[in-house]
Amino acid sequence: MPVTLTVNGRSYGVEVEPRKTLADTLREDCGLTGTHLGCEHGVCGACTVLIDGGPVRACLLFAVQMEDVDIRTVESLEGPDGELHPLQKAFWDHHGLQCGFCTPGFLMLAQGLLEDNPDVGEEELRDVLASNLCRCTGYKNIIAAVKAAAREMSGNHDR
Ligand code: FES
Ligand code: FES
Repeated sequence: MPVTLTVNGRSYGVEVEPRKTLADTLREDCGLTGTHLGCEHGVCGACTVLIDGGPVRACLLFAVQMEDVDIRTVESLEGPDGELHPLQKAFWDHHGLQCGFCTPGFLMLAQGLLEDNPDVGEEELRDVLASNLCRCTGYKNIIAAVKAAAREMSGNHDR
């Protein structure tokens, strides 16, 4: 079936089987391989992207459902001259990744969270980040990175 996806502000006209997931379509038809696939059944969150600003698991959606929505992938975070987004910089600075497989999902999960509420409290932050799986870091540095990015993005350096 033909479908037109709007991803990172760009239009992609693709032809996909009705059963093809958004995650596979982003990777295989749009060339956006930053979205990773771990479990492929909605548990790990490696495939997290933003749909109309909210974090969703792209392995649980069909691409043909995704006309008329705004999709953002991890590739959207990069600045116009290739500079790192504050979240990416904070993950780098605070060692919020080891193998990096989970990282695109965590970045988009955190981006959705901070766009919604840059002053998010500690408890909610931990609760939301616990919805994605990381097998390397033990989460401590991921939490520190997102808190640092939140300070940077909100301009509130007292938090
Ligand atoms: S690959 Fe989508 S949640 Fe794991
Ligand atoms: S950094 Fe390896 S799974 Fe998270």
